[in-house]
Amino acid sequence: MRPFHTIIEPFRIKSVEALRFTTREERVAALARADHNVFKLHADDVLVDLLTDSGTGAMSSAQWGALMQGDESYAGSRSFYRFESAVRDLTGFKHIIPTHQGRAAERILFHTILHPGHIVPNNNHFDTTRANVEVEDAEARDLVIDEGRHPAVVHPFKGNIDLAALEALLDREGDRVPLVMVTITNNSGGGQPVSLANLCGVRALCDRYRKPFFLDACRFAENAWFVKEREEGQSGRTPRDIAREIFGLADGCTMSAKKDGLANIGGFLAMNSDAWAEQCRNLLILTEGFPTYGGLAGYDLEAIARGLEEVVEEPYLRYRIRSTEYLADKILNAGVPIVRPAGGHAVYIDARSLLPHIPPLQYPGIALVNALYTEAGVRCVEIGTVMFGLHADGTETAAALDLVRLAIPRRVYTQSHIDFVAEAVIHVAGMRDQLRGYRITAAPGALRHFTAAFAPLR
Ligand SMILES: Cc1ncc(COP(=O)(O)O)c(C=O)c1O
Repeated sequence: MRPFHTIIEPFRIKSVEALRFTTREERVAALARADHNVFKLHADDVLVDLLTDSGTGAMSSAQWGALMQGDESYAGSRSFYRFESAVRDLTGFKHIIPTHQGRAAERILFHTILHPGHIVPNNNHFDTTRANVEVEDAEARDLVIDEGRHPAVVHPFKGNIDLAALEALLDREGDRVPLVMVTITNNSGGGQPVSLANLCGVRALCDRYRKPFFLDACRFAENAWFVKEREEGQSGRTPRDIAREIFGLADGCTMSAKKDGLANIGGFLAMNSDAWAEQCRNLLILTEGFPTYGGLAGYDLEAIARGLEEVVEEPYLRYRIRSTEYLADKILNAGVPIVRPAGGHAVYIDARSLLPHIPPLQYPGIALVNALYTEAGVRCVEIGTVMFGLHADGTETAAALDLVRLAIPRRVYTQSHIDFVAEAVIHVAGMRDQLRGYRITAAPGALRHFTAAFAPLR
């Protein structure tokens, strides 16, 4: 037994960035100017920014040092080869194609392989993944296990894909399925992990039905930590070893290095298929850049190469997962309904349960997001009917869940920031009866949550 139980931040702070404090009146005005959509706020008007964990992390001194090593040659840069070897060591994939972020990898992959009428199964597609499938007139089908659809149900691997449902799909409509995807961890389903056993099951089905298996690997390291902590027989292994086994089960992946690449920008597409890789590289040249930089600077490639090493370190992952759980414990103990257990990168509040008087088509998630900003300057995001309720044919229905995600940037906020956030959530939950819904006054046809304008209902 160790004599101390406190899990401390496994770093000290060398450089700081001041926060700007605002009054409630200033925030009310800022939100009105932003059409009641927190994506349109000026970030200087936000006190604690939990909008996303994507690209918002703090780089280490080693990463900042690596930036100076960036080789900015257009073709064949030294930084690309360092990046390629870091990604290949970790994933084992044959072809490593850099992209400026995750959705570019998705677009290139799906535009290359999808045809109208295709179906892409996944545990849950993230919003950009779904949009990049649907833009090809294909269907993004979510097959997460039933436990993953119920926020209050506790299960160690709520991100697992329903293997029976996947098998039924491959059996009945397999000719329409060009590949199987699994998202680790499952962001849209609450940042929940997928077990190694489940991934082995997907591999076996893909072998049986001769389908390629791709990971959406944005949070592979957090997923590996959950496997180490929760799956029988895995506790003695390093997260890196577990991650390598997981990648070894797949035929390729899309990756946003803005998450578990510990970088502020970047991503990649990786795969074993020579034929698909050639087509993807051709498309990459058209829209992202030459295959040895893919829309990134040489210094970005250096930062990602180093980030992929740091992200699998045990002290980092222990602190990372525990600090998310710490926030979840605090607000759950105060009676706020959340997706349980806590996700890896975020805590998800069940806004539909917290605000039963606001129907889904009046967007309870937006009501909660806007109240948290107005009352405390905390910015977070709706993952619910605004994000997923609009369909390609223009109709709108309630999403399966109306969640509000508090995403924790990596290595950015300290425990007292998180204590403040917990206080803010509990305060807003206490005034739930006063919160009102919203209507949309203007919105684009796809990915509307980023730019929609809202008006409060009386
Ligand atoms: C699971 C998942 N897939 C894909 C993406 C897209 O990555 P990017 O924002 O780098 O385009 C995200 C980003 O949040 C994500 O969480």
